[in-house]
Amino acid sequence: MAFETINVEVDDHVALIKLDRPDAMNALSQQLVGELLQALEEADANEKVRCIVLAGSDKAFAAGADIKEMAKLGFVDVFNANLFAQVNDRIAAIRKPIIAAVAGYALGGGCELAMACDFIIAADTAKFGQPEINLGVIAGIGGTQRLARFVGKSKAMDMNLTGRLMPAEEAERSGLVSRVVPAKKLMEEAMGAAQKIAEKSQISVLAAKEAVNRSYETTLSEGLRFERSLFHSMFATEDQKEGMSAFLEKRQAQFRDK
Ligand code: HXC
Repeated sequence: MAFETINVEVDDHVALIKLDRPDAMNALSQQLVGELLQALEEADANEKVRCIVLAGSDKAFAAGADIKEMAKLGFVDVFNANLFAQVNDRIAAIRKPIIAAVAGYALGGGCELAMACDFIIAADTAKFGQPEINLGVIAGIGGTQRLARFVGKSKAMDMNLTGRLMPAEEAERSGLVSRVVPAKKLMEEAMGAAQKIAEKSQISVLAAKEAVNRSYETTLSEGLRFERSLFHSMFATEDQKEGMSAFLEKRQAQFRDK
């Protein structure tokens, strides 16, 4: 199916999904959210794809949920529709890594969407925020929960209560983003990171993603046990033999996902 609010390209084992509502700062309309979730699931199911990059435009990753669509809704509407409830669950079910490449505004649902990805690479133009408070509402898909875990209570409170925007440099310092690069280099950096991931054994990539994500869901001792079991299970793979042999033979590993 052709998408209208996003663009998808698959090249060299990387699926690049670009949000594409330039007239609305990539606001997350219901159509865009539906298309995005479908594209992520298709990329996850596509054997050729080994990593996913999610990006917006130079001006905006996404300026939040579509306010024009939400303005007319009442409690019963959003409660019955369970508005945005699918987003976290369906993104959490994606097994392949998703890198958010953020330039410009990542606000409200846009910031939350970036945080739902596995890590964020930001342009120096990026601005993160949870300005829902200015609209008389609060964040709805992780802006009070993930943000507090990523940047700590004080900054999460500051952003959620005042609605202030956090610039890229502060976002890196605070642990919200993994790297900040000049805006012109953003896509090269994000695609380069995706390529690096694509070269690894997919078994260990999926296991590493699952293990890190588990750290947000469980106690340290349970998480360590989970990690150790996965670590032990890697020794049942051919890729473990190949990776370690290649190191000892001083050559590049040729992983076969076996
Ligand atoms: C709908 C939006 C929009 C949004 C921008 N636009 N953000 N439309 N929903 N979230 C539209 C504007 O109405 C305008 O359309 C066009 O995009 C360009 O925006 P401008 O405001 O003219 O641009 P600028 O002055 O550069 O300001 C950019 C901005 C500002 C700082 C990003 O647009 C802004 O503050 N946007 C709203 C951010 C926000 O409050 N986000 C949280 C949403 S609630 P026209 O037609 O006038 O040209 C939310 C809840 C999440 O996300 C809960 C779960 C998902």
